Amino acid sequence: MKKHNFSAGPCVLPQEVLEQASQAVLNFNNLDLSLIEISHRSKDFIAVMDKAQALVKELLDLPEGYSVMFLQGGASTQFLMTAMNLLKKDGKGAYISTGSWSKKAITEGKNLGSIDVIASSEDKNFNYIPKGYTCPEDADYLHFTSNNTIFGTQFHEFPEVSEGTVLASDMSSDIFSRKIDVS
Ligand SMILES: Cc1ncc(COP(=O)(O)O)c(C=O)c1O
Repeated sequence: MKKHNFSAGPCVLPQEVLEQASQAVLNFNNLDLSLIEISHRSKDFIAVMDKAQALVKELLDLPEGYSVMFLQGGASTQFLMTAMNLLKKDGKGAYISTGSWSKKAITEGKNLGSIDVIASSEDKNFNYIPKGYTCPEDADYLHFTSNNTIFGTQFHEFPEVSEGTVLASDMSSDIFSRKIDVS
């Protein structure tokens, strides 16, 4: 009998997906090589990446003008990379503090530049999503964690930002779980 893992994060996958994935690890596309033994520049591997990108675009219903990137280093690397990529010279980043993962993003952002925590639910041990805050118009970006994996709270509406502010969301534990308007 198949077990069910109720932990946050991992999900149940259809049996045929698991079988296809294990087959590809043993012998991919009848190449007599494993998917993890072929060059990442080979046409067979590039086809896998192209298809994965197309499927992500389809699942997220991404409008024209958006790109999908698969980056190394896990979500944790993006705590620093978000600030590194979005913080302008002498600019500032705005953050909503709703749990351990957003606190890590704040710590990394502070290592790099000027960071404002514009809302927090730390006063009640992160048991709610803050409301009634305004993101400063001059913020280069607003960072929030759409689903707080450890504390079990989720943003059902995304924060409002002015035109010049990029909305950056750590969706590690709820991306693909519901329709979102990426634009
Ligand atoms: C919301 C959230 N952000 C970041 C992370 C860290 O992800 P990674 O292990 O890929 O660095 C997790 C991991 O569970 C998470 O749930």
